[in-house]
Amino acid sequence: MNIGGQAFRTIWPCDAGNSIQVIDQRLLPHRFEITTLATLDAVASAIHDMTVRGAPLIGATAAYGLALALQQDASDRALQQAVNTLQAARPTAVNLRWALQRVSQQVLALQPAQRAASAWQAAQQIADEDVAINHAIGQHGLALLRQRWQALQRPLQILTHCNAGWLATVDWGTALAPVYAAFDAGIPLHVWVDETRPRNQGASLTAWELGQHGVAHTLIADNLGGHLMQHGQVDLVIVGSDRTTRCGDVCNKIGTYLKALAAHDNDVPFYVALPSPTIDWHIRDGLAEIPIEQRTADEVLYVQGKNPQGQLQQVRIAPDNTPALNLGFDVTPARLVSGLITERGMCAASEAGLLQLFPEHAS
Ligand code: MRU
Repeated sequence: MNIGGQAFRTIWPCDAGNSIQVIDQRLLPHRFEITTLATLDAVASAIHDMTVRGAPLIGATAAYGLALALQQDASDRALQQAVNTLQAARPTAVNLRWALQRVSQQVLALQPAQRAASAWQAAQQIADEDVAINHAIGQHGLALLRQRWQALQRPLQILTHCNAGWLATVDWGTALAPVYAAFDAGIPLHVWVDETRPRNQGASLTAWELGQHGVAHTLIADNLGGHLMQHGQVDLVIVGSDRTTRCGDVCNKIGTYLKALAAHDNDVPFYVALPSPTIDWHIRDGLAEIPIEQRTADEVLYVQGKNPQGQLQQVRIAPDNTPALNLGFDVTPARLVSGLITERGMCAASEAGLLQLFPEHAS
């Protein structure tokens, strides 16, 4: 996507394959900085501290991290240690485990001397595939948005939660890919952007990337969505997913479930856009089986912003001794999801729906 007229992905190789560069998402929207990651530990920290974030981007970054680790030590033991380190960085988004398994399986069949180069190639493939997958999600979502727009005969009002745009992926985004495709096709639309406490990915990332692309949007407090739906100001909701079970339960950024409940109560269609590596085919029940990441209480107790001098600053918003609980994700049961938008098309949020699109996972 474009930043100030220049095309960017969120991650790219550099230094003749000895490091990667990423956009430091902790500093957006106030500062645009690129950071270089050259070691396993640097990659694991960047995933954990959310320099990079978003399920597909975490997966691609971890794949490169594994390749960098193998450049130092390509033994079976080092490979397993690197997988464990990266896997522990963020437990909920299944793309991380998927990418690590894919790279490990490919290199374990090889002699140690060949492993680093093969892992690097696999990481590049994962990144390129992510771009193609998200582009396809955009095209399928475009058909849906076009239909809805033709039925309504007025600009579409779309609500989204967290950041499931191009910053959360290698390019295009998941939930926002259809929005960009529709905007580029000339369909008039406006996006309600949930701020998405505690880390405010909506306020800092979604608002920024929509603005860079010229898409009309309005930032709203997380609590406003239900009211807007009750007053007919939301035509549809589109969110992303960090892990979707084979039965269609959707785990996504904390607060997604409340939006799904409000949408259900107001007959507002609630769609989830997801690339297939986000589907965990091994599990059925999202509530019982998906590990929910617990992050530091400081993310709830403090907010980060720009002060009048233009410096980034953190300020505490609660009394000094107040404890806080910070769970990063929640699960929206399949019954509240109107449809899944994948790279192979749209389907019902159910095992039958997913298997129609991905029959190779039947068994
Ligand atoms: O904690 P984050 O910022 O990594 O969470 C991101 C989300 O929840 C996104 O909505 C998600 O990864 C799905 S779409 C790319």
